[in-house]
Amino acid sequence: MNNKSRVVLITGACGGIGKALVNKYLSQGASIAIADKSEENSFNLSEEIQKKGGNSYAFPGDLLDQNYCDNLANEVNQKLGKIDTLINNAGVMRRGDITQASDEDFELSMKINVEAPFRLIRAAIPLMAKAGGGSIVNVSSCWGIKPGPNHLVYCTTKAALAAMTQCLGRDHAHQNIRINAVCPNEVNTPMLRTGFEIRGLNPDDAINELNQSVPIGHIAEPEEIADVVNFLTSDDARYICGSLVEINGGKAVY
Ligand SMILES: NC(=O)c1ccc[n+]([C@@H]2O[C@H](COP(=O)([O-])OP(=O)(O)OC[C@H]3O[C@@H](n4cnc5c(N)ncnc54)[C@H](O)[C@@H]3O)[C@@H](O)[C@H]2O)c1
Repeated sequence: MNNKSRVVLITGACGGIGKALVNKYLSQGASIAIADKSEENSFNLSEEIQKKGGNSYAFPGDLLDQNYCDNLANEVNQKLGKIDTLINNAGVMRRGDITQASDEDFELSMKINVEAPFRLIRAAIPLMAKAGGGSIVNVSSCWGIKPGPNHLVYCTTKAALAAMTQCLGRDHAHQNIRINAVCPNEVNTPMLRTGFEIRGLNPDDAINELNQSVPIGHIAEPEEIADVVNFLTSDDARYICGSLVEINGGKAVY
């Protein structure tokens, strides 16, 4: 199935990569289920899309809420008639080594970055299987493959999500459900920029400097991630299951 006429559920749809994903799928005529924490942002984004003639529906909620996660796929299925594609994009990044990590850092990150995708996928798979197939992409991180320094909790959660993806890719290929992950290095989004602000740096200057460290010449723009996610959910990727696709402009993590 091509992406046109698909129903695509995107978590973290109002964030940096989320909005790029929304725009990518909209440009192909897909219907978008917008899931994000902020009710206001979710409804505003959906309204904006509808004004431009696109098809979207807002399903705001907090991924810390287990009931919300368990019910979301079903709600999308009921309101939009089906669910072809799920993109687990929402995530949080808590910084620091293990001695700096609080219980709250650990619990919050595990819940949003690992438990929420687990619950969403568990609910989506029977619906997709019944409909004859589907696709799922988890937004992990290059640090989910090889950990970077001083982000113990974040790296742990993204590695869990990467492992989950590989298990799922194998377990559900026979149902024509393809599950893959993208593993980006640095992307120019609020998540990255606020990190610089917290450290007292000017985000534009810091990004200019960071650009020098990437062989291709710049850190990723959100659209460069969305294009790969789109490919993984398209028929062109019909034989790709359980893959962890690094998107790093040549900047590998060692
Ligand atoms: N920006 C990067 O450099 C980078 C690199 C690798 C991977 N990633 C991953 O990409 C994904 C998207 O990140 P981004 O950079 O666009 O970040 P972002 O902060 O711009 O967006 C994250 C979105 O997730 C939503 N969210 C957070 N907590 C939530 C909750 N409890 N319930 C519902 N929604 C919630 C936020 O509202 C926000 O819209 C994340 O999983 C992140 O870990 C980002």
